[in-house]
Amino acid sequence: MSIEKEAEMTKKVKIAVIGTGRMGSVHTRNIVRLIPEADLVAVCDIRLEVAQAVADELGIQRVVKDYHDLLDDKNIEAILIATSTDTHAFIMKDVAAAGKHIFCEKPLALELDKIDEALAEVEKAGVKLQVGFNRRFDKSYKQVRDIVASGEIGRPCILHIVNRDPDFPSMEFLRVSGGMFLDLGIHDLDMVRYQMGDVEEVYATGAVLLNDELKEFGDIDTGLILLKFANGAMGTIDNSRKAVYGYDQRLEVFCSNGTAMMENEKETTAVKGNMNGFTSAKPPYFFMQRYASCYVEEVRQFVECVRDDKKTPTTGADGKAAVVLGYAALKSLRENRPVKISEIG
Ligand SMILES: NC(=O)c1ccc[n+]([C@@H]2O[C@H](COP(=O)([O-])OP(=O)(O)OC[C@H]3O[C@@H](n4cnc5c(N)ncnc54)[C@H](O)[C@@H]3O)[C@@H](O)[C@H]2O)c1
Repeated sequence: MSIEKEAEMTKKVKIAVIGTGRMGSVHTRNIVRLIPEADLVAVCDIRLEVAQAVADELGIQRVVKDYHDLLDDKNIEAILIATSTDTHAFIMKDVAAAGKHIFCEKPLALELDKIDEALAEVEKAGVKLQVGFNRRFDKSYKQVRDIVASGEIGRPCILHIVNRDPDFPSMEFLRVSGGMFLDLGIHDLDMVRYQMGDVEEVYATGAVLLNDELKEFGDIDTGLILLKFANGAMGTIDNSRKAVYGYDQRLEVFCSNGTAMMENEKETTAVKGNMNGFTSAKPPYFFMQRYASCYVEEVRQFVECVRDDKKTPTTGADGKAAVVLGYAALKSLRENRPVKISEIG
C-alpha cells in the first residue's frame, strides 16, 4: 500500500452532532468512545445545557446552540442529525447545501414533499446521506436475510415481523410522533424491504386496546399490517405499544424449503426449572439495550463511507420508501381497504 493510501485510510473523519437528546447523546458517546475512525469536533443542541453536559462528559471542545454556526466550518466533513423528527428536513437541506455529508436519524421527515426537497438538495450538493435504520446492522436480521438470499431454503413465501414496545412513551411524544405506524412501525416498514424487496400493497388495521388517551389525537396502540410483495410473497407486521413481558423483537421468513427466523434475545440465558415448569429472563428492556451494538456499527460504517468515498448502506431513497409505506398503511387504516403503494405520493 502506498504511503498516501495508508494516510488516507488512517485519516479521521471530522464529525459534529446536532441534537444531543436521548438518541444524539448515545451517538455522541459511541463516536467518541467506540469509533476511532472519527473525530467528534462539535456538538449542538437548542437546549445548550444538554449539549454542554455531554461535551463536558466526553471532553468535546466546541458546543453551539444554533446549528448554522457549524455550517461554515470547513473542518467539519460530516454531520449526524439526531434532532426531533419535525426538524430533520430543514436541517438536512442546510447541511447538504453547506457541502457536508449527513447521517440522519429515522424517520427522514413526516411529510413527503419535505423529504423530496431535502433529497433534492442532497443530490444537488453531491453529499452522502445515510438514514438511521439501525436494525439493518443487527447480526441476526442480517443472517436471516443472508440465509434466504442464498436460495438454500427455497422461495420466500411469508414474512412475519413482531415489533412490540415494552411500554408507552410520554403522551407529549406520542402527540407529535406521526402515529404508531410512522413512529414505532417505521423500522418494520424498512425491514420488510430489506428482507423481501419492494412492497406492492398493504392492508392495515388497528385499535386502541390499551390506553384510551390515544383516542384524543386519533392514534392507535395495537396494529397489524398485511403486505403483498412484488416477488409474490406475503407478509405481516404486528405492532404494539406495550408488551408487559418486555421488548418483543422477532422475525421469520417462511420459504418453500424451510424457514429462517430470529428469536428474542434474553437478558441472560439462565433457565430455572422446578415442579411448576421452566422460567427464563425477559428480553433486554428496550431499543437502547437490544440494539446497542447496531447504533455503533451504523455510524462506524457511515464514517467509513465518508472516509473511503463509498455508497452508504442505507440511502435517502430507503428513508423515503419507509415513509411512503407508512402513509399507505395509514390510508388503509382510515379507509378500511387494501392500498396500492402506487396510490401514495
Ligand atoms: N433509531 C432509533 O432506534 C431511534 C430511537 C429513538 C429515537 N430515534 C429518532 O431520533 C430523533 C431524536 O429522538 P430522541 O428520542 O433523541 O428525542 P429527544 O427529544 O430526546 O432529542 C432531540 C434533541 O434535539 C434537540 N433539537 C430540537 N430541535 C433542534 C434544532 N433545531 N437544533 C438543535 N437541536 C435541536 C432537542 O433540544 C433535543 O435535545 C427522532 O427523529 C427519533 O425518531 C431513533
